[in-house]
Amino acid sequence: GRIWLVVPAAGQGRRMGADRPKQYLPLAGRPLLVRTLTRLHEALPGARLCLCLDPDDHHFDPAWVPFAHWRRTPGGAERVDSVANALDGIAPDAADDDLVLVHDVARPCVTVGDLKRLVAAIADDPVGGLLATPVADTMKRDDGAGRVRATESRDGLWHALTPQGFRFGLLRRALNEALARGLRVTDEASAVEVVGLAPQLVAGRRDNLKITHPEDLALAELVLSAQES
Ligand code: C5P
Repeated sequence: GRIWLVVPAAGQGRRMGADRPKQYLPLAGRPLLVRTLTRLHEALPGARLCLCLDPDDHHFDPAWVPFAHWRRTPGGAERVDSVANALDGIAPDAADDDLVLVHDVARPCVTVGDLKRLVAAIADDPVGGLLATPVADTMKRDDGAGRVRATESRDGLWHALTPQGFRFGLLRRALNEALARGLRVTDEASAVEVVGLAPQLVAGRRDNLKITHPEDLALAELVLSAQES
């Protein structure tokens, strides 16, 4: 079957405190969005891309897209809405068993190796799965007032990364079910869990970081240069 890449890029990135959405900030001399699309294209040149963009986005340049087959769909209020719109947008051309990989534009350091490993790992998996990495830090739960209420065991805890890959039919049904129940899920795996299935955890690299805060940009530049050397 086909592979679709859904890239949510409709966030405002307010936590960056920058003059434009974070996907347009320069990362090692190129817009962050370009870095992310370049990595995806290196690993999966034949995939079809669906880019979720704010309809009022004035920064995007179509010349940045390296994929032969691509389209844009309007972003929604939250990430989950943007992804649901994207699935509606590709529905006329997607088959139920096509593979959909959803990857945050804010993760430019994902490697070609991890992308290929994820695709291979879920190729014959009836559920699908996600890149993830085991939690390394000790986990504290707060009491709502800045003090520790409890220490949570980190045994068996993972950070959910992206991409997350599922069959089109399953993912659409799962996201619609989550939305119908009023659950504002923050990743695709959560929606698949809502319909009672257990996504596969595919161990990925810890340097697949998400650009969220200003200091993450410098970190990502270091990661990119280390990966390329
Ligand atoms: O803000 P955060 O980093 O958690 O967003 C995760 C991803 O979801 C980003 O790639 C962002 O552009 C995207 N997003 C979106 N539509 C929204 C909010 C976030 O596509 N309404």
